[in-house]
Amino acid sequence: MADADVMDKLVSLCKRRGYVFQSSEIYGGTGSVWDYGPLGVELKRNVKELWWSAMVHQRDDIEGLDSAILMHPRVWEASGHVDGFSDPLVECSNCHRRYRADLPEVESGQCPSCGTREAFGEARSFNLMFKTFMGPVEDAAATTYLRPETAQGSYVNFLNIQGAARQRVPFGIAQIGKAFRNEITPGNFIFRTREFEQMEMQFFVRPGTDEEWFETWKEVRMAWHVSLGIRPEKLRFHEHGPDELAHYAKAAVDIEYEYPFGWKEFEGIHNRTDFDLGRHQEYSGKRLEYIEPGSNDRFLPFVVETAVGVDRTMLVALADAYREEEVAGDARVVLALQPRLAPLKAAIFPLVKKDGMPELGRKIHEDLRKESIPSFYDEAGSIGRRYRRQDETGTPWCVTVDGPTMDDGTVTVRDRDTLEQVRVSADALVGWIRERLTA
Ligand code: GAP
Repeated sequence: MADADVMDKLVSLCKRRGYVFQSSEIYGGTGSVWDYGPLGVELKRNVKELWWSAMVHQRDDIEGLDSAILMHPRVWEASGHVDGFSDPLVECSNCHRRYRADLPEVESGQCPSCGTREAFGEARSFNLMFKTFMGPVEDAAATTYLRPETAQGSYVNFLNIQGAARQRVPFGIAQIGKAFRNEITPGNFIFRTREFEQMEMQFFVRPGTDEEWFETWKEVRMAWHVSLGIRPEKLRFHEHGPDELAHYAKAAVDIEYEYPFGWKEFEGIHNRTDFDLGRHQEYSGKRLEYIEPGSNDRFLPFVVETAVGVDRTMLVALADAYREEEVAGDARVVLALQPRLAPLKAAIFPLVKKDGMPELGRKIHEDLRKESIPSFYDEAGSIGRRYRRQDETGTPWCVTVDGPTMDDGTVTVRDRDTLEQVRVSADALVGWIRERLTA
């Protein structure tokens, strides 16, 4: 199967099964903005909960924060985004389409859209922030921006959180939240969009220990991706050269994934030095130094940042899980999502619509739901068709209420990936599933 086909098939599966829809589709769609349907929103919540658990709940040295999307406009001057957060843009003199000047297909000078040769003039700088206005007056004084990263909310709250949580450096601040970038060339489905969610963590360290922490966070973050079931051979590090570094970074490494459209960034890990705290100190006029207990040393901590998109994690999880297989001569599409990520954990099928099987099936379904194990009840169509629907949905376990269930209370549980079938007591099903979700 060609890789381009995989993306087309994934996009179509995501729509068909209710993972992802194009935003405002009935109006022809909005450029590179997507909506998450019933299964997509569950996958998204699972991604965020697993990240939060690993980064906040399982650690003593990271605190959570949910800062506002709209911030004081000076924040974006201090952060360097007003002056420096831009891409070089060129416009075709014929069809007026706009492209990032550094795209390989644009560097030849030929417009990829209308084919005009020598189509582009001088590149100009295009700021990626969405501008908006605070309050009823639309003038320069009221101008602010939709945040292009969550990180700045953590920097301006550094001392609030350090004091309130009585943390000592080194410690981190973690956030999950929306970010907005007016990307010139978004695309590849939910890979690069104009509205997206980030999971970012800023780790404040003593200057001089930053390089060691940078190495530590590289390893911790790579291990997290592997813990989600992503195939390790599809993940690698890419160190940024001097010409790739963002304006705030002393060192940066991407964790890359081999998407169907090639190796590209998945997560960024950055050594931001004291750039951000230093700039906020300068622009706000407030001291942001940390006073180390004991030594009474005063210093601006350096920051090691880990930054990954929720949407991009979903794309990686979906692309990595997508398989086309043949089972006993039948083709099947399966989303082999790790059970902890899967939107539904179980599907309950009565073998036939009689002999008390539907009633018992519904009871098992209710029992799972009461325990917050997302489950789906399905009595429509042959068992084979019901299996296929759940394989495509990514449901790890299909539970069939059949003849023996009525005698001994056991159900057939079929594993999505191995197709192995085992009998489990219906009363023990909640525990059986929980055990596998926490393994
Ligand atoms: N605070 C640092 C920062 O924002 P970044 O490398 O620009 O760094 C971090 O972004 C991560 O956010 C990326 O690795 C990617 O996972 C995600 N991301 C960035 N821009 C995105 C976009 N336009 N659409 C979807 N995800 C994006």
